[in-house]
Amino acid sequence: MVEFSLPAGSEPTEGKTHAAPEGATRVRRFRVYRYDPDQDANPRIDTFDIDLDKCGPMVLDALIKIKNEVDPTLTFRRSCREGVCGSCAFNVDGTNTLACTKAIEDIKGDIKIYPLPHMPVIKDLVADLNGPYAQYRSIEPWLQADTPAPNRERLQSPEERAKLDGLWECILCFCCQTSCPSYWWNGDRYLGPAVLLQSYRWIADSRDEATGKRLDNLNDPFRLYRCHTIMNCTNTCPKSLNPGQAIGSIKEALLARR
Ligand code: SF4
Ligand code: SF4
Ligand code: FES
Repeated sequence: MVEFSLPAGSEPTEGKTHAAPEGATRVRRFRVYRYDPDQDANPRIDTFDIDLDKCGPMVLDALIKIKNEVDPTLTFRRSCREGVCGSCAFNVDGTNTLACTKAIEDIKGDIKIYPLPHMPVIKDLVADLNGPYAQYRSIEPWLQADTPAPNRERLQSPEERAKLDGLWECILCFCCQTSCPSYWWNGDRYLGPAVLLQSYRWIADSRDEATGKRLDNLNDPFRLYRCHTIMNCTNTCPKSLNPGQAIGSIKEALLARR
């Protein structure tokens, strides 16, 4: 049987425990991944006991409370607090999701919070997303058309516009990207579900005139065809989108072109 082990220095150790204030009655335990690149030490898991009577209902509320009141060195991304910016994507309770839309009460037992998996970690919960963003840049995510722009907007019929539903809502949180086993093993060459869904967003756009070039760019055994339809991506998307289906639509478009 194949045995996997973590690279030296990457296995988390037991970290500090921060008890809840005296008199707290509704306490939940948060176990949070910590990594400081300036310390020559393994990552650690810190424990924070939080009084939910003094905390908002979402996992992000607890992280903000920890940062404001317990440990200001805790580092994580966040911005909108309403599921539209994609910043607060972490692995919570074993699933990639947005901390600002994940309710604490929906989690049983200790609340475990890790960075998005299989990505280099910059600090604590901040994953290095330069790789996926470079891949996103490579698909040229903007409207391309040779037809001169009309005086007003480029029009679409309601049916053409409807083809973008399920695509435009993507907030590039990369929950799907970092849940995909194919991306874990071939992330340097496979574009991954988030980037492919974004790519299809432009292929499906009736106003875009670069479909041929876009499909040429994807017609590659690694960039597109590393997807093996495992569907982790679709199962994890916190916006209920379907990157697996978008990838299937790209493959169909390539087949139809033959
Ligand atoms: S369907 Fe494709 S992109 Fe989605 S998790 Fe599976 S292999 Fe990855
Ligand atoms: S498809 Fe969903 S999970 Fe993937 S990046 Fe977009 S919003 Fe996030
Ligand atoms: S803070 Fe913007 S999506 Fe969570």
